[in-house]
Parts: sequence; structure tokens; C-alpha cells
Amino acid sequence: MFATPSSLLLEQRKDIISRLDDVLRCGLALQLLLYFAHWNVKGMGFPVLHPLFGDLADKIAAYNDRIAERIVILGGEAQVEVESLNQGKALGDRALVKVVSTGVKDYLDELREARKGMEDADTDQVLMDGVLEWEKYGWQLLASIEE
Ligand SMILES: [Fe+2]
Repeated sequence: MFATPSSLLLEQRKDIISRLDDVLRCGLALQLLLYFAHWNVKGMGFPVLHPLFGDLADKIAAYNDRIAERIVILGGEAQVEVESLNQGKALGDRALVKVVSTGVKDYLDELREARKGMEDADTDQVLMDGVLEWEKYGWQLLASIEE
């Protein structure tokens, strides 16, 4: 653990960093999935989905940066572990939206799990911002393929 401006106890910081590690790992996987979808989407939905996937990829990259910096602010080290990605290969546009929506749902589950019993209100605020933001994006994705 590194020197930190935080007033939290060491054990509290370790617990929070461990939760944020899980959120960051899941967020980096979602970032890869969204860039994959942005670059490879094909079909009638392309004009809508190409920019939507690109916008969401940029948004998760920015939020991952916020989570990683929170880890370092609390005295930890942000880990960059990249999970393998093959779930989006050779899918049509609608199927790709469903895969990405599942990725967003998994990410939301991770954010909500990290909030359970969270003792630090500041970190909880960061996580709650993420829940509200990614619920909205999950809705946008599903609405893009609704008939
Ligand atoms: Fe692009």
C-alpha cells in the first residue's frame, strides 16, 4: 500500500480496493467488448450501432479511468488484467447488441455487488454514479433493437 491522502483505516482501504479491483477487471472486459462491437458491427443496424458502440466504449474507458484512479487514491495499484474475448465473433447486429447488453448487465451486477456494505461514502458515490450511468446505457442498447 502506498501513501494516501485518505483518512480511512488500512483494513478499510484494502477491502475497498479489492472491490474496486473486481469492478475494474469487469469494466476492462466490457471496454474490449464495446470496441470489438464498434469496429466489427455489420448489418442494417450499422448506422445506429457503430456510433452507439463507439460512444459507450469511450464512456466505459473514462469510467474505468475513474475507478483505477480511486484505487490509487486509496493507496493501491491499479491492475490491468485483460480477459479473453470471443463472445462477439461473427454475430449479426441484433445478436451483437444482445451480447453487449449481457456484458452491461454483468457489469451492473459487479457495481452493485461492490456497493454492498460499502463503508466509504465517497467511493459509494463513484459506484452509484456508475450504476445510474450504465443502467441508462443498457436501456439505450435494448431500445436500439426493439421493434
Ligand atoms: Fe471509431
